[in-house]
Amino acid sequence: MDKLIIQGSCKLQGTVKVSSAKNATLPILVAALLCPYPVKFESVPDLLDVTTILKLLQSLGVKVTKDGDGVVIDATTLENQHADYTLVKTMRASVLVLGPLLARFGIASVSLPGGCAIGTRPVDIHLMGMEKLGGEIQIENGYIKAKSGRLQGTTITLPFPSVGATENLMMAAALAEGVTIIENAAMEPEIDDLGDFLAEQGIQIEGAGTSRITIHGKKVNELKSSNKTYHIIGDRIEAATYIIGGLMSEGEVKVTGFNPKHLGFVLETLTKMGADLEIGTDYVKTKISKRLKGVAIETAPYPGFPTDVQAQMMALMSIVDGNSIVSETIFENRFMHVPEMGRMGAKVNIKGNSALVEGVEGLSGAPVMCTDLRASAALVLCALVAKGESEIQRVYHLDRGYEKIDEKLTGLGAKIQRVKG
Ligand code: EPZ
Repeated sequence: MDKLIIQGSCKLQGTVKVSSAKNATLPILVAALLCPYPVKFESVPDLLDVTTILKLLQSLGVKVTKDGDGVVIDATTLENQHADYTLVKTMRASVLVLGPLLARFGIASVSLPGGCAIGTRPVDIHLMGMEKLGGEIQIENGYIKAKSGRLQGTTITLPFPSVGATENLMMAAALAEGVTIIENAAMEPEIDDLGDFLAEQGIQIEGAGTSRITIHGKKVNELKSSNKTYHIIGDRIEAATYIIGGLMSEGEVKVTGFNPKHLGFVLETLTKMGADLEIGTDYVKTKISKRLKGVAIETAPYPGFPTDVQAQMMALMSIVDGNSIVSETIFENRFMHVPEMGRMGAKVNIKGNSALVEGVEGLSGAPVMCTDLRASAALVLCALVAKGESEIQRVYHLDRGYEKIDEKLTGLGAKIQRVKG
């Protein structure tokens, strides 16, 4: 397992361009299952999770052709509709194949994803919605066994604005007969991007990115290729990570290639802490700010504070002036970065789903271990500003969602070495 050796006391300086959003790339690549023709994508990020989803599509018989950072997905014909546990267990977003397979083929056998480090992560909302559309769902030997005639459009109210369930149901509804309305839908920008992709295939869809999405289903042979290469939105979570890195290291970092409007609440919170940010149409630049001060945050569905930036924000909070409070309301176990940050001198006390962060003068380098994707990013940020050297172990967690992070940080002046393990 690879590890990163990071020299501390770094001041990040310069410009970094984020990659296409992991959490838009995954559902949109899966949505190509709906299309009986090849679909071309550009700037597909080279991430472990993307490699996994492409392997899963190939296991269904989809033809995947890579051309540099472009990918062509050809799901004209499939060999099977079985998403095996061996692949699904490594990445829960694999469950997104359920909707398109059921909608297009009337049958799907998808392994239950199982939990992951940050929580049990059930898929009950996905399954409730599929049944509402007319799917017959059985759970057998750890697999979701689904079958249906042509799915029938209907109104589905989500008990929680689940990102994955919204995406799964949008894709299922795309080929359902009639109109489907998803109420209390997730509103993340990645949902909006999926809606744009479906519209590009000829699906009439209104309200993607709002809490009510209306999808007018089509027959599979009514979908038509736009013959355009699809470009996925920039990764707002990666952007937030580098913006916070710039602030923590008191450097001037320009983060480009994404829409700052997708980080509204995060940028507002950083400004409230005293950060001096230059916000452009497709970039944010950190300016040298006076020492930032503590703040209280509570994670929430978009447009609230994103849970995927919670760990990185806690890294910043650990070295600002005064105390901060973090409430994690989305996942039940998303504080695993805390004990590892404690090894670097951070002072964080967890009480239930809240953490009190006491700002300290500085952190010290230490060997630490990654546990999940965003916790890993937080540890890298701490290591960059700590005194002395840190060794970040199990960086495959990081490689799931941050493309070329060591190269990008080196480009900003970090002294970071990857040791192949
Ligand atoms: C997506 O996960 C993202 N992953 C996550 O990003 C992100 O943290 C999450 O949305 C919330 O924004 C991708 O897009 C690939 P949810 P997802 O369904 O779809 C509960 C990262 O770091 N729930 O909105 O799994 C669930 O247990 C990753 O990039 C149910 O109870 O998130 C959780 O507590 C981590 N039943 C909450 O809802 C369901 O059927 C949010 O889950 C579905 C979800």
